[in-house]
Amino acid sequence: MRILLLTHAFNSLTQRLSAELQQLGHQISIEFDIADSVTEEAVALFAPDLIVAPYLRRAIPESIWSRIVCLIVHPGVVGDRGPSALDWAIQNQETDWGVTVLQATAEMDAGPVWASVTFAMRGASKSSLYRHEVTQAACSAVLQALRRFESGSFVPQPAETLPRPHGQWRPLMRQSERSLDWQRDSSATVLNKLYAADGFPGVADSLFGQPCHLFDAWPEATLRGTPGTVIARRETALLRATADGAVWIGHIKRAGSIKLPATLAFPEDSESLPQQGLPSWWRSATPTWQDIAYEEAGQLGFLFFEFYNGAMSSSQCDRLRAALHWAKLRPTKVLLLMGGDDFWSNGIHLNVIEAASLSGGSAADESLRNINAINDLALELINTEQQFTVAALGGNAGAGGCFLARACDLVWVREAVLLNPHYKNMGNLYGSEYWTYLLPRRMGSGAAQAIMRERQPMTARHALQTGFTDACVDGELQAFRAEVAQRAAALAAEPDLAQRLAAKRESRQYDEAIKPLAAYREEELTQMRRNFYGFDPSYHIARHHFVRKSPASWTPRHLARHRDLGWKLS
Ligand code: COA
Repeated sequence: MRILLLTHAFNSLTQRLSAELQQLGHQISIEFDIADSVTEEAVALFAPDLIVAPYLRRAIPESIWSRIVCLIVHPGVVGDRGPSALDWAIQNQETDWGVTVLQATAEMDAGPVWASVTFAMRGASKSSLYRHEVTQAACSAVLQALRRFESGSFVPQPAETLPRPHGQWRPLMRQSERSLDWQRDSSATVLNKLYAADGFPGVADSLFGQPCHLFDAWPEATLRGTPGTVIARRETALLRATADGAVWIGHIKRAGSIKLPATLAFPEDSESLPQQGLPSWWRSATPTWQDIAYEEAGQLGFLFFEFYNGAMSSSQCDRLRAALHWAKLRPTKVLLLMGGDDFWSNGIHLNVIEAASLSGGSAADESLRNINAINDLALELINTEQQFTVAALGGNAGAGGCFLARACDLVWVREAVLLNPHYKNMGNLYGSEYWTYLLPRRMGSGAAQAIMRERQPMTARHALQTGFTDACVDGELQAFRAEVAQRAAALAAEPDLAQRLAAKRESRQYDEAIKPLAAYREEELTQMRRNFYGFDPSYHIARHHFVRKSPASWTPRHLARHRDLGWKLS
């Protein structure tokens, strides 16, 4: 079928659907929901059999839904309606939730139901639920709806006629319904409210007497203080006391500014707080905020890095490199780089870079510092001589994050994960992280150039087929991690492991003799300096819009295939 994806943005769910539907042989094109007339134009150009709307913020015009079946993906159970579906589900502590695919009609979310899938809720942030349970359920529901549509015999039914409709219309959740009472609210209540608002819109609050929005909350098991006071800091997070304990706040958006690591949002106030550092890289025995955590099981070392949104600032890269250096000295045979629950890595930290210019510094300098820090981390990985390194991607990876993963000997990816191994979307960024060394030796230079040029997301299966990765592992996050540990244990137990490690060292020496890593790095950085300091400001403009979430004013041509003159021939 010819399917038009109509969406507010090319977010992870839209990317996943686009990739999966293409793999099923459907012809896919994408149009951003910018204006009714633009959508009408896209429909006229593409003449789709069906429109799927994975992520919309406004209604589809009647001129379209009255002519073509439009399937809306709603992140709620059958009968649920309204723009804050997940927020209410989290705040009301629903135990089960779901995704419904319904047909667009005149009334919002009230059309007949084509498919629905339910899932068990998890004590996690809205964005984490969206990236895991909702995305998975949405893919299943859309595929089911498409099969039904193709059958030609399925008649979608109104929600109220279906068994157990348990949703209802709920309005946009207001900040007054999210508000925190630090004197009275327990830590569990504060966490729940912050989970329901992550990563947008956050909870409106004030800190150090300044209005701000809070994001990225983590429980604290032992530290206490006077309710409402900010009692400590750790690296980039702040700890604030609740009625019965304390909660860590990882990210803050101050009025008129962008979302930043908490201590960077309030640098002077944070400075005067006691630093509650952790004694080592080992994972803390009790719940607390710990962005880098090491675990060991027999011959296996596991290094987790839970960086918000997968973004890695200069200081996070430096600290992770220090942890990696330390982990390499442990008596293990396989070292697994686990990333975080939602993302493995999305490369350099664009918000922290942007913040440098907001505070009178230079975003170009900070960009260069960040790319050098992530390069140093990649180099530390490439030069691991005593262990096999495995990047275990349980969450998505993008841009430099993909090549950081490729700096490991093996890359194992969870089946539901999506990779974006290219840089150009960020204002034609050339990219570094030794990609010019790592990518062509895996795929050949032609395929490497094509990946960079085409800028398409890759499913885990496709990435394996292309040779970019080494395994695609089924299962939800915990099942994936259990399977990864088993495979790594088998690798560590292989009798010829010592010879294989020796062969890896030799192969590195051979490559180094032909062309040193320093030469690849210098060539990449020459291009990157042009991006950062050169005449063309595209990267700075793209980053400016990315961190401020500027609404798109057109659909990029590489996505809107119907706007290519020759698309009908392809
Ligand atoms: N730096 C800072 N923030 C980043 C980031 C980065 N490198 N990559 C993603 N984010 C943030 C987004 O701003 C968004 O923030 P929010 O929680 O405030 O909304 C959040 O992560 C999720 O990103 P989103 O784009 O909604 O996720 P996605 O899964 O739909 O898309 C990517 C993933 C990787 C395609 C997309 O985030 C992206 O293009 N990131 C930039 C990658 C990049 O160019 N890195 C720099 C070059 S190394």
